[in-house]
Amino acid sequence: MKGFTTKALHTGYKPNDEDGAIIPPIHLSSTFKFGNKGGYDYSRTVNPTRIILEQTLAQLDGNFFGLAYSSGSAVLANIVALLKKEEEILFSSDAYGGTYRFIVNVAGSQGVKFKIVDLTDYVKTEVILKNNNIKVIWIETPTNPLLKVVDISRLSVLAKKYRSLLVVDNTFASPVIQQPSRFGADIVVYSTTKYINGHSDVIGGALTTSNAELYSRLKFLQNGIGAILSPFDSWLTLRGLRTLELRMKRHIDNAEKIAEFLNKHKKIKKVYYPGLFTGDQKKIVKKQMIRPGGMLSIELKEKYDVKKFLNSLKYFPLAESLGGVESLIDHPASMTHASIPKEEREKIGLSDGLLRISVGIENIEDLIEDLRQSLEKA
Ligand SMILES: Cc1ncc(COP(=O)(O)O)c(C=O)c1O
Repeated sequence: MKGFTTKALHTGYKPNDEDGAIIPPIHLSSTFKFGNKGGYDYSRTVNPTRIILEQTLAQLDGNFFGLAYSSGSAVLANIVALLKKEEEILFSSDAYGGTYRFIVNVAGSQGVKFKIVDLTDYVKTEVILKNNNIKVIWIETPTNPLLKVVDISRLSVLAKKYRSLLVVDNTFASPVIQQPSRFGADIVVYSTTKYINGHSDVIGGALTTSNAELYSRLKFLQNGIGAILSPFDSWLTLRGLRTLELRMKRHIDNAEKIAEFLNKHKKIKKVYYPGLFTGDQKKIVKKQMIRPGGMLSIELKEKYDVKKFLNSLKYFPLAESLGGVESLIDHPASMTHASIPKEEREKIGLSDGLLRISVGIENIEDLIEDLRQSLEKA
């Protein structure tokens, strides 16, 4: 994998000659003496620890600017706040349940207009762009939980043609294996709760961009809305970032082996994993992802007992979230994606039997043995 966390970490914070500290300081101060050299005034607006994280994240994505928020959901709320009356947001039918919940039930009920489409259907997407006033196209790739990949550069061409901003939620990939700005994304967003922090102990979000005008509008909104990441959580996230490349390598090595094992198992109906895709989806993976990632979803054949399988697992607790060092399993229909109505879920192929696995960095033999013994009991 491409080694770029070194440069990013050294851009965010350089050990200095003044105090010799190797790791970044935590500035807990909510306010600063007026007229200080750094230009700091109040920590909602600017905080020295948060800035280190924001610059590091920007660098990781190959962008100039970064902003860190109190959650991935807060990033979405800030981006939706860019929209003016009569402007619309277009997003995928196969998006994280909370993305659907915020756009449809929160922003939508306050008058924000939206359209939902399968963003892997480029013809339908163009028809919607042609006939509506779409100002933001929000894509996730790979998607949550079906792991579909969306062609970022193809959508970037459409976004430019119809004067929309292309926003890519890169949470599932991380900047180690996918840098959407290289393919034309205007804004890259993260739930940093996941791989970026990586230790399941911080809820956070971030965005990066190289567009100075857009950055200053978003910075204004970040300060105005106030959903900023705390200094301590910024510091913890910086600590997580130091091992991002190493963790990603192990997540993916493990996920590839688990996908292969499950794909051959007689009780498994289907494995959804970018590393197993064929045809057009495979071509997109090859084009924009360095490796296929640490997330996969599965369906058991109907005659087997999903509940028994879940209850027999020792090393895959049933839990929301993903991207932490420990493996987790999720039942999207009743957990992460329960806010999407059942008819909508069925339309996009998200069945009640689908299970999503976040593969951790544990010993691979232990993980496979655990899956094997639980499948035996299913
Ligand atoms: C792809 C994706 N984007 C955004 C979010 C929202 O992030 P947060 O939970 O940090 O608000 C999630 C949460 O699971 C997610 O999976």
